[in-house]
Amino acid sequence: MAFLKVSSSLMVVVFLFPTLSLAFPGSGFGWDNGGYFGGGHSGLFPGFYQFSCPQANEIVMSVLEKAIAKDPRMAASLLRLHFHDCFVQGCDASILLDDSAKIASEKRSGPNNNSIRGFEVIDEIKAKLEQACPHTVSCADILALSARGSTILSGGPMWELPLGRKDSRTASLSGSNSNIPPPNSTVQNLITLFKRQGLDEADLVALSGGHTIGVARCVTFKQRLYNQNGNNQPDATLEKTYYHGLKAVCPKTGGDNNLSPLDFASPAKFDNTYFKLVLWGKGLLTSDEVLLTGNVGKTMELVKAYATDEELFFGQFAKSMVKMGNISPLTGSNGEVRKNCRRLN
Ligand code: HEM
Ligand SMILES: *[C@@H]1O[C@H](CO)[C@@H](O)[C@H](O)[C@H]1NC(C)=O
Ligand SMILES: *[C@@H]1O[C@H](CO)[C@@H](O)[C@H](O)[C@H]1NC(C)=O
Repeated sequence: MAFLKVSSSLMVVVFLFPTLSLAFPGSGFGWDNGGYFGGGHSGLFPGFYQFSCPQANEIVMSVLEKAIAKDPRMAASLLRLHFHDCFVQGCDASILLDDSAKIASEKRSGPNNNSIRGFEVIDEIKAKLEQACPHTVSCADILALSARGSTILSGGPMWELPLGRKDSRTASLSGSNSNIPPPNSTVQNLITLFKRQGLDEADLVALSGGHTIGVARCVTFKQRLYNQNGNNQPDATLEKTYYHGLKAVCPKTGGDNNLSPLDFASPAKFDNTYFKLVLWGKGLLTSDEVLLTGNVGKTMELVKAYATDEELFFGQFAKSMVKMGNISPLTGSNGEVRKNCRRLN
């Protein structure tokens, strides 16, 4: 139910002319006004800002459109930001807090340091929302709205998004280091870390499809090129031409920050090409490749299914994003609505 089917011609119109969304009254996209249902048991619901800030999504989308036009990678970075927020003490904007006397910032964790980006765009959205609706829209909801908006603006699916998250008064640097899977994970490790968040194998495979956009640093896939199993040999599952291309970008020593697309065939378009590439031995990270070859559970079948049926992938991605977005939210009088996403009130 979370995946709203629209004719593909409408998808194209929205993709090419995102400002047309302003033609829908209210919160930017008409289907967002759909009332108080859709949040499951999370306590969140799509109409949360219907009266207090009906233009919230419209404001988010207008900042996103400009930011992504200027830097197409920004869509990917914002999608990932929501993931790295939700996997650490829930979707509570803990990832946005800077270092301070009370806070050890998650921005310095292994998975985040020199990697995670998009904070300036979130700041800009927050500033505009504080002007329009002071002290109303949480930073955690801004992250969720930005992840959905980035997906839509990249050509991916849309979904009805439960809202009403509050922002945390804490962060967890250690949680950020232990809960976010490393790129050289086994499939069993991926399944375990997702299960810890209440997410199953279908969620794992569909959400990994987020790697249909964006890039990764050489340091995150170097092991595969030069020493995958401690025997100084490359990962045998890497397709040969792709492997040689990657070595040119990512030398054995140095070049750690050189970038390679996660989906080189269509790096800025949200589609199911990622799964086709994984099938062909052209997935970039070990964590992408083991979904096919890890031989645990049903992840291989799911990769094949999403590679052949984009609608199926889009539908599951939408459902899984709602599920991920519902991880342990703070609601009601728990937490606060930060005035500045980088610090506590
Ligand atoms: C399944 C476990 C996952 C692992 C091991 C993983 C790992 C990684 C790594 C290592 C990078 C490159 C970071 C860098 O080099 O700085 C990356 C990028 C990215 N990840 Fe994941 N990821 C996972 C799941 C997800 C999920 C669930 C999403 C979102 C739904 C996601 C979205 C992205 C995006 C969009 C990028 C590109 C970011 C950019 O270009 O700024 N990933 N991921
Ligand atoms: C994060 O990256 C910076 C810049 O490369 C580095 O100096 C710093 O030691 C890193 N911090 C941690 C905690 O690893
Ligand atoms: C994954 O990479 C880390 C950091 O480079 C390394 O310590 C660890 O041994 C690797 N794990 C596997 C399974 O290769």
